[in-house]
Amino acid sequence: MKTSTRCVHLAAQDDVYGAVVPPIYQTATFRQPTAAEFGEYDYTRTANPTRTLLERQLAELEGGAHACAFASGMSAITALVRMLKVGDEIIAGNDLYGGTVRLFEQMSRQGIGVRYADPTEIDAVRSALTSRTRLIFIETPTNPLLRISDIRSLAQLAHEAGVMFAVDNSMLSPCFQRPLALGADFVIHSATKFLCGHSDVTAGAVITNDLALHEGIAFQQNAEGAGLSPFESWLLLRGIKTLALRVERQNESALRVAKFLELHPAVKKVYYPGLKDHYGHEIHRSQSAGDGAVISFTTGDATLSERVVEAMRLFEIAVSFGSVGSVISLPFRMSHASIPDAVKKPLAPPADLVRISVGIEAVEDLIDDLDQAFAAAMKEGATQSFVRGVGSSAV
Ligand SMILES: Cc1ncc(COP(=O)(O)O)c(C=O)c1O
Repeated sequence: MKTSTRCVHLAAQDDVYGAVVPPIYQTATFRQPTAAEFGEYDYTRTANPTRTLLERQLAELEGGAHACAFASGMSAITALVRMLKVGDEIIAGNDLYGGTVRLFEQMSRQGIGVRYADPTEIDAVRSALTSRTRLIFIETPTNPLLRISDIRSLAQLAHEAGVMFAVDNSMLSPCFQRPLALGADFVIHSATKFLCGHSDVTAGAVITNDLALHEGIAFQQNAEGAGLSPFESWLLLRGIKTLALRVERQNESALRVAKFLELHPAVKKVYYPGLKDHYGHEIHRSQSAGDGAVISFTTGDATLSERVVEAMRLFEIAVSFGSVGSVISLPFRMSHASIPDAVKKPLAPPADLVRISVGIEAVEDLIDDLDQAFAAAMKEGATQSFVRGVGSSAV
């Protein structure tokens, strides 16, 4: 089956009444035949039929055998790092979502070491390996700089070193990239993003082909109680039905927006894997079927970037990405403000970086909105400079 078909048709749906939409098993506990016997389900923290259905679908979409759905992307990543013990080390990519860095820094205070390396350079990762390394964790494309790493080469390196390899696939989706087929041991999702697609659920997932690894993750899901609730599992199942349709449209529009930005005189640099001169474009094309809907750009002036963001009318100023509605943000001040001070300098994105997530609106309207926001921001900059008497333009 093609992914777009898989998004709509669930694996095994066994509703007794033949409902075409799965029911929500909104129950915390399940009746047992006797005190000594358990049925297939007993307590929702451990497992729930609605969540199981979602987990089956997530596994199928990512080409994996097993999946665990969590209450957020962060609780999915937490379950993963809980597999490590004191003294173990993680090699983490040096451009990651700010909350992931915050979590890893907390882990390092609890005796799990973290070394940041540039995963776009395989030798940098190789040099960071030690006898204590247990996990290599990357995003590709990264949030927010859209950096591309070679999943196949990193998987090979990890396996030669006897280390687990996890890829956070939130920036694309299984429609465009399937890291397990390229050798990763784990795929991580902030399902809050493209999988949900409507900004109405926070959710996460860990997907793997390895039963022993899956059992470790499922143990954490049950032990810590971070599994996704039945209702949110149902909402996610509903969102996934339109995943392929949404990401194809978003991908198409994002390329047009990226090309518009590339030509705009106020833009210094555009980061989008679909652009031919994007660093890693060839590697990206060799491992992904699409480029996603997240674009970042710099203007060279943090004040101008802020003015552009605030002048948008259609794009909402909001963190997160992957929804049907377009959003715009300043990662340094918003999604990545959580990077702890100790590692801010090497790991935080530039202050003038603007990140946008392109939704499913008419692309002409999105480009018009960006165009008017740049014009308004540049005009405001010119007026401010004139008032201060320091020149004619901030650009
Ligand atoms: C790449 C990436 N991974 C993980 C997360 C965390 O996911 P959540 O916000 O669902 O906890 C985010 C959140 O923005 C993210 O961008």
